[in-house]
Order: sequence, then structure tokens, then C-alpha cells
Amino acid sequence: MNIKTSDRLAGINEYYFSQKLREIEALNKEGKNIINLGIGSPDLPPHSSVIKVLQQEAEKNNTHAYQSYKGSPILRNAVANWYNTWYNVTLNADTEILPLIGSKEGIMHICMTYLNDGDEALIPNPGYPTYKSAVTIAGGNCINYDLSEQNNWQPNFDVLSKTDLSKVKLMFVNYPHMPTGQLPTNNVFEKIISFAKANNILVINDNPYSFILNEKPQSILSVDGAKDVAIELNSLSKSQNMAGWRIGVMCGAKERMEDVLRFKSNMDSGMFLPVQLAAAKALSLGKDWYDGINKIYAERKQRAFDLLDLLHCTYDKTQAGMFVWAKIDSSFEDGYKLSDDVLYKSNVFITPGGIFGSNGNGYVRLSLCATVEKFEEAILRIKIN
Ligand SMILES: Cc1ncc(COP(=O)(O)O)c(C=O)c1O
Repeated sequence: MNIKTSDRLAGINEYYFSQKLREIEALNKEGKNIINLGIGSPDLPPHSSVIKVLQQEAEKNNTHAYQSYKGSPILRNAVANWYNTWYNVTLNADTEILPLIGSKEGIMHICMTYLNDGDEALIPNPGYPTYKSAVTIAGGNCINYDLSEQNNWQPNFDVLSKTDLSKVKLMFVNYPHMPTGQLPTNNVFEKIISFAKANNILVINDNPYSFILNEKPQSILSVDGAKDVAIELNSLSKSQNMAGWRIGVMCGAKERMEDVLRFKSNMDSGMFLPVQLAAAKALSLGKDWYDGINKIYAERKQRAFDLLDLLHCTYDKTQAGMFVWAKIDSSFEDGYKLSDDVLYKSNVFITPGGIFGSNGNGYVRLSLCATVEKFEEAILRIKIN
């Protein structure tokens, strides 16, 4: 039988990591024992009290039914308190918070909610590849905006203001930025909000990394009047070590949450209540929790620097988040070449920066989701090959 896939999938390929993990699995079957420093999936568990809530709630008889499309009020209140405590942002727990099955799905929901065929969305180059796929699948067109080391990986508003923005409806931003680790410095959030207001663009700040190796978590919603033009996506995947649990959240004006719910409530039927209650517990954790995980990431980061030194890469030591972004040595054509070289010679996988867009071609990204012992073994393997 020959059934053609839909036109909307034209140009959409399987996610890079989905393919690469298959190749790594095949290499492992050949006995290669690849050290994977690619993907940003925390290897550490959530806090034990979070797991306890899941266990206790799952044992009850009355926690197994479908749940509200807009999430449990307990989780929404926990998100509101979390935003208040850490970002100094006030959110109405009833109307301005929409729990998600991971923030990745929120990106798709927003695109499906707001984009018509031919509408345009500004996406960062380099940036998280899902923005491009979600915009394209929804029928929109991507307009890349360049980020560069010279501009501290922040949008160049002079260039943007000279761009034809007449069809642009959405702009994705992501600070702290993945893959570069750039923090939202130089009032970048204020500048983004003024730009969005001046051009009638809805901004989405994708914010899963603000607690990782960063002393001062920031939200775009802390800018005066931000809710008029901005939505923020957040996640428990990284800072609460709950990537596999699939818990994210969308925050912003009541009207936006209602718009997105019109789409989302036709896609899923809520989240398992014990997961939501455990997520609420995770959001109540104090500074000790974040200090504890950051101590571990800081140690690993030092090893990542050592590994990158061996490969003659250069990097900014002040970058935040759970990756290290590094410029490759000119003896390599691009990050793909360096990544392949290290994979096939030393059985260590590091991510080529080019998968995040053409401006990432001269870079590689190392994940900190591997133990110090793994980093040391990787360093040894690279040294002897
Ligand atoms: C920039 C960025 N946004 C969103 C996500 C998705 O996170 P979640 O697990 O909440 O779907 C990731 C995950 O790697 C990411 O790097």
C-alpha cells in the first residue's frame, strides 16, 4: 500500500537526536560503549519527597480519572507561588497559568493556535530546532533572526527593524539561551517587549534553563506590561530533574491561555493527577535543592572545559544552563566534522552546533548530564586517540 504523508510534513524530518540515538544504539551493539555527551536529559533523580508524593497519590483509589483540561488548581497555585518566589512575577493561578505535558508541546500548541498558512514567525539562529518544525507543521513560514557571539547572542534590533515584518505574528526567544548559554543581560527582555509592542508581534520566551548554573532566574513576564505581548513557557524537565515525567507550563494573559486551550483541549485529556501533585511538590523545593544540583553541574562543567581544551575549542566561562557551547578549532571544517571525528575515533558523542542553525556551524555543544567519571573516561579516550 502506498499512502503518501501529508504536505505539511514536507521538509520535516525525524528529530536529529531521534536519528542519532539510533546510530549510537547500533554502535553500542557493536560493543563500542559510546559516552553520550549530547542530549540534555538530566541523569539525576527528582527530590525523594517528589517521588513519595507520586507513590502515595498513585496508591489512592480516586486519583485515576481524567483530569481538568486546565490542570489541577493545586499545580496552578504551586506555579503561581514559584513565579512569585523566584521571578517576582504575579500570576493569577486560575486564569494565567496552563500546565502542559512538557514545554515542547506548548511550542506546537502556540503555533497551531495562532498561525495561518503563510503567516510568519521569527526564530533564533542558532536555536532549539523545534521552533522551526512547529511553525512549519502549523503552516507558517520561519524568518530566522541571527544571533552571533559579537552581539552576545542577542537579537540585533537594528537589523530586525529593517526587516519586512508585515506578516510576522510570532517571535520565539529563549533566554537563558540554548545552545549558547547566554543569559538575558543588557535589558534584552525590555528591548524584546518594546519591539513586540511596536510591531504587534506575540513573543514566546521559552525558559526551561533559568535555574541551571544561574544565580538569578529571570522571567520575561517581570517586564512592565509584558503580558500584553508575551507568553512564557517553563518546564520541570531540567531544574527539577523530571524530563521523563513531561511537565511544563505556559504563563501569560488570560486571553492567551484561553486561546491555546481551545486547541490543546482537543489534543489531550489532561495529566495524571499524581504527576501533577508531585510536580506541585517539586515546585515548592527551596534554595537547597537548586544549590545541590548546581554544585554537581559546576563540577561537571569544569571537566567539560578540560575536554574542550583537549580539542582546542574556546568557550565563554560565564555561560549558564546545562550545556557548554564552544567554538571549534579552525583545523576542523565545522562542528559536524569534529563531532564525527570524536564519535568514530574516541567513542564519545558531542553535539554539532549546526543542528541548531547555520550560525552554529562553527561550534559544538556538550551536555552536563553525565557524571564526572564519564567525563574523565571521555577525556582519557580523546587523549589516547
Ligand atoms: C530550549 C528548549 N526548550 C524546550 C525544551 C523542551 O523541554 P520539555 O521537556 O519541557 O518539553 C528543551 C529541551 O531540550 C529545550 O532545550
